[in-house]
Amino acid sequence: MFKIFTIITACIAVMAGTANASGIPDGKALFSKNCASCHGMDGTVSDYGKKLEPFQARNLRAVASYVSYDEFRRIITHGTHDTKMKAMKYILDPFEIEAIVDYVKTFTYKPNLANGQKRFKQVCASCHGFDGRAQTGVGAKNLVYSKLSLNEKVHTIRYGRSGTLMTAKRHQLSNPDIADIANYVDSLKHAGDAKAGAKLYAKNCKSCHATPSSIQIIGNAAVRHKKIADLDDHMLDLRIRHGRHVDREGRESIKKLSSDNIQDIVSYLRKNSK
Ligand code: HEC
Ligand code: HEC
Ligand code: HEC
Repeated sequence: MFKIFTIITACIAVMAGTANASGIPDGKALFSKNCASCHGMDGTVSDYGKKLEPFQARNLRAVASYVSYDEFRRIITHGTHDTKMKAMKYILDPFEIEAIVDYVKTFTYKPNLANGQKRFKQVCASCHGFDGRAQTGVGAKNLVYSKLSLNEKVHTIRYGRSGTLMTAKRHQLSNPDIADIANYVDSLKHAGDAKAGAKLYAKNCKSCHATPSSIQIIGNAAVRHKKIADLDDHMLDLRIRHGRHVDREGRESIKKLSSDNIQDIVSYLRKNSK
């Protein structure tokens, strides 16, 4: 049944000029026929697409490499409620939609970090802080230490986190802005420097913990021996700053360490413990 369906679709597609002789739908031709009027042949939105209400067509080029196949497939198949983006499942079959997604995925975009920084200050800094470290007290995350990949950051900016102050920004920002901001945020990422960490460790920790492997981490009943590797960076940061150090003598020197210092130490600990 499936095979027959495939063959029939393929024949129709060949007749319509949107498939090659072997029956594989031609994504570019399908895009040109069904999408370009609004999104522009290069994905950067046509003049007509810019005038649509209530929301203009979106720039597909800017987010093509950050948005997953699944998400593209879903939006194209089902459309977006109450907008001019109609469900395509009534006019295109799944193979054609797949071919269009493949074509959209060939779009490339060079992010503009200066614009990303400017827009971040305007739209995000009130909660995340101008430096992204979120010392604003509203529960926003420190983006410098975010574990999210670039694509996950784009997703979070687009859809937000329901039930928190992090609302969806998909209609507040254009796709180029979203791509620029996400890349800017990603560039704030602090990758711990193990070499600097080794020096800091020797100065601040060695007197009590001869080596990283000698540090005893508290586990719970089920996990008797927790290892440094069992804790993520954020947790390890908390254990070093607070945890059992709170009432120790070495506390004062630990307090003076900056967030980046601690991440450097963490990176050193990871390289030198199991
Ligand atoms: C009549 C105009 C029109 C046509 C034709 C059209 N779109 Fe859209 N499209 C829109 C609009 C308007 C939006 C924005 C909807 C919104 O704001 O939620 C959109 C949004 C999208 C999105 C989501 C983008 C994002 O950043 O969230 C994708 C993906 C998309 N379209 C792909 C396509 C593809 C592929 C086709 C052809 C198969 C197509 N569209 C045809 C108007 C159109
Ligand atoms: C009104 C306050 C507010 C604004 C404005 C805001 N955020 Fe957020 N953001 C939050 C909060 C609160 C969270 C934590 C949500 C949670 O608990 O999961 C968050 C979480 C995030 C995360 C997830 C980080 C992680 O590691 O889990 C990212 C990424 C992010 N925001 C980026 C942005 C960007 C980029 C902007 C600007 C376009 C922005 N936010 C604007 C409040 C805000
Ligand atoms: C004055 C002594 C002292 C200094 C200095 C010190 N620690 Fe500790 N630390 C302890 C003691 C005591 C414990 C409790 C565990 C133990 O007995 O081994 C501990 C526990 C820890 C733990 C496990 C925390 C937990 O809750 O499971 C980590 C991780 C750790 N230290 C890292 C560090 C790092 C990194 C430094 C340097 C920045 C440092 N310590 C400096 C005495 C010290």
